[in-house]
Amino acid sequence: MCGIVGYIGKRQAYPILIKGLKRLEYRGYDSAGVGLINGSNQLNIYKAKGKVLNLEETAAQKDVSGCIGIAHTRWATHGEPCQANAHPHVSQSGNLALVHNGIIENYASLRDQLKEKGYTFQSSTDTEVLVQLIDYLQNSYQIDLLEAVQVALHRVIGAYAIAIIDKRTPGRIIAARKSSPLVIGVGNDEFFLASDATPIVEYTNQVVYLQDGDIAVLETGKPLKVVNLENELQPAEIKEIDMNIGQLEKGGYPHFMLKEIFEQPECINDCMRGRVNKETHEVILSAVNDHKEHLLNARRFIIVACGTSWHAGLIGKQLIEAFCRIPVEVEYASEFRYRNPVISNEDVVIAISQSGETADTLAAIELARSKGAFVYGICNAVGSSIPRNTDSGSYIHVGPEIGVASTKAFTGQVTVLTMLALTLGHEKKLINDTTYTHIIDELVQIPDKIKEVLKQNESIARLSRIFTYAHNFLYLGRGYSYPVALEGALKLKEISYIHAEGYPAAEMKHGPIALVDTEMPVVVIATQNAMYEKIISNIQEIKARQGRIIALVNPHDTVISKLADECIEIPETLECLEPLITTVPLQLLAYHIAVCKGKDVDQPRNLAKSVTVE
Ligand code: AGP
Ligand code: GLU
Repeated sequence: MCGIVGYIGKRQAYPILIKGLKRLEYRGYDSAGVGLINGSNQLNIYKAKGKVLNLEETAAQKDVSGCIGIAHTRWATHGEPCQANAHPHVSQSGNLALVHNGIIENYASLRDQLKEKGYTFQSSTDTEVLVQLIDYLQNSYQIDLLEAVQVALHRVIGAYAIAIIDKRTPGRIIAARKSSPLVIGVGNDEFFLASDATPIVEYTNQVVYLQDGDIAVLETGKPLKVVNLENELQPAEIKEIDMNIGQLEKGGYPHFMLKEIFEQPECINDCMRGRVNKETHEVILSAVNDHKEHLLNARRFIIVACGTSWHAGLIGKQLIEAFCRIPVEVEYASEFRYRNPVISNEDVVIAISQSGETADTLAAIELARSKGAFVYGICNAVGSSIPRNTDSGSYIHVGPEIGVASTKAFTGQVTVLTMLALTLGHEKKLINDTTYTHIIDELVQIPDKIKEVLKQNESIARLSRIFTYAHNFLYLGRGYSYPVALEGALKLKEISYIHAEGYPAAEMKHGPIALVDTEMPVVVIATQNAMYEKIISNIQEIKARQGRIIALVNPHDTVISKLADECIEIPETLECLEPLITTVPLQLLAYHIAVCKGKDVDQPRNLAKSVTVE
């Protein structure tokens, strides 16, 4: 979790660090801190509980000068969110300051050893152990900071991205990574450092993505040097990134989440651009073309993902099984990685992740590859760890997603999964040309149909005000709509803190129906598809128990509109494409309920955008 920023060069570091932290705040916001070395080689550390704004208040009127600094916005794993536990952590000698993303798993034994050597600890974090260990090694063996970092990292078990400065050598930042992301921006006689590229793009588009085991030495007036723990030089390939500042701003919307919901028509077009040919009615995914043999001959697909990406996977399963007749299993990456699953080289594992940094998904990929499976990634963050650790894959190309609640990434993932299933099904000759063309025709109309839903934003906002009283919500759907129900419930939980559950509509009578009373809003995805009649019966069952129905219906539905308390209209499309549309009003519903309740929509409590720890 957490966001790391660093700067070394000729400019004042503080404004760059603060701005960078704000860009990374979506990754964690329990506390924030900054460490700077000023012109007199003094190390100044400022920290505050809560958001970056609090840090700015703390640092106001203080000495924030200096052209070198590191900063951190935390998502606590060890030790409560408070000022003492905020990063940077300073070594006992007062010379070193360190920021860390990840978990030092063997921190307890290292701390005990250091205590025996006379070290005392100011925080209850795992991180502090690392800075004290480096300090101890430097002082006991009279070794250089780089060497001390290398020796220390040999002793550490766990995941880390770190940046460290030493006030005695104020022209240098040392950074290292293992299982947590770190990107270096290479400017003109200056370097930037961050957990992802968003704080960097404003200054340079030249970046180096550090690899696991890399240690980077950023020194003023010298080129970037990357070595490993054994001090062997490592390649540092400079990549050009294509991201603009506009994508990182709210663009007039009150929240990133609302902006990202409204971006979906454009995002889906971006996702299909160059892949879906509207004239020839063809879908071409270059990754599929390049790896036909693996994909078409797969004995089985296993989709691994977490959270919203897992929900997209459930839709992917239905699409792939329907179009390609290849069995698909959908697994929580966190479960898959620890349960010794049966995998062979005839399996294809599809890893889905917005951030491309989710620790459990990365570990699941590693496991699958070790067992010989071919791994295909579906990611958003370009250059992130998952695309770099898979055999092939497709980006969803929906642009940076900043709101913690995933919205446009979900529809982007489902769009890619639809294209994947269509291409494979067509290649395998299991979809005839007429059906293939028809689905593509409908797919290209999805962005416009989403726009129709977005036009109902005001009425969904009004409807949301009615339901802010609720303590519980049920979301029901069948077939392709069941994962949408799960996703709708997750969105509501995440940002409004209302308990919500998604269920396959027919399962309701096997338990959850006991919860239904006059207080219980039940959101039902009730579009006119193969399951329509069944869904009407499910709605009747809820009405008979005085539940309050919010129904997603197709226009001119006269049956359900009479039964439901509230209706949201969904333009008609093919059943297999409905999730791309029906998800959108559920995102808006969750958004408006959270706004009505005064919640922090973009940065909900206890959550972080990318879960880079277990
Ligand atoms: C979605 O709203 C959540 N914030 C969360 O479930 C997220 O989808 C999950 O952590 C997976 O993240 P990833 O797609 O970046 O791997
Ligand atoms: N484990 C460290 C802590 O709890 C770092 C957490 C993070 O990545 O923000 O402070």
